[in-house]
Amino acid sequence: MSDNGIKSENILEKLNWRYATKSYDPAKKISDSDWATLEESLVLAPSSFGLQPYKYIVVTDPETREKLKPAAWGQPQITDASHLVVFAYKKTLTDADIEHYVDRIVEVRGGSREDLADYENVMKSSAQKAVDGGYIEVWNSRQAYIALGFLLQTAALLGIDATPMEGFDPAQFNEILGLTDYSAVAVAALGYRNAEGDWLANLPKVRFPKEELIVRV
Ligand SMILES: Cc1cc2nc3c(=O)[nH]c(=O)nc-3n(C[C@H](O)[C@H](O)[C@H](O)COP(=O)(O)O)c2cc1C
Repeated sequence: MSDNGIKSENILEKLNWRYATKSYDPAKKISDSDWATLEESLVLAPSSFGLQPYKYIVVTDPETREKLKPAAWGQPQITDASHLVVFAYKKTLTDADIEHYVDRIVEVRGGSREDLADYENVMKSSAQKAVDGGYIEVWNSRQAYIALGFLLQTAALLGIDATPMEGFDPAQFNEILGLTDYSAVAVAALGYRNAEGDWLANLPKVRFPKEELIVRV
């Protein structure tokens, strides 16, 4: 067993405890300190080249959440959960985006921009290839899903319920949130379950057996 202060059985217990919560207790709010940890898990998510081609939109305005609900097939988590995050990926990547990132590397790590010229060119040509090949939106949106995974896992470890959601109309979400350069691709509702009112709360997880999912070669 690793000795880093986190026990395997605790992790697995939390991952089994979590489920895609259908019903939240609207009266129970995530504390500011837990929320700060959850936001930090979003910031710390890895992305291809480290480019972070996304925004995490934390929707706190109750009226906006009411507007989003019908665009998410009326799912009650949108309004009832303590917190709501919309994951929006960048619809393209330009040289300016890459340069912005290289500026940030220099700002954080020091050194000269010239030292990063080769890396910058590799990133620029990869981005251009993705734009020309018509898969830049797929590429960027994949990065947002990694952050969604980080958030879900962190929430579970903190004993906070969460729901990953794709059941919404991105065009309507974009309009309501005023998104143009970015597009909504996934949502996470977070808070505390209303266990009595949630048909899913006590059902066992449905997963294929490990032998079916994990291929060893
Ligand atoms: C990308 C993604 C989108 C999902 N969309 C929704 C959704 O819109 N509404 C919902 O209630 N659950 C949604 N789910 C939850 C899944 O149905 C759920 O994660 C899956 O059945 C496994 O169950 P568990 O998360 O409870 O272990 C989504 C899950 C993922 C990963």
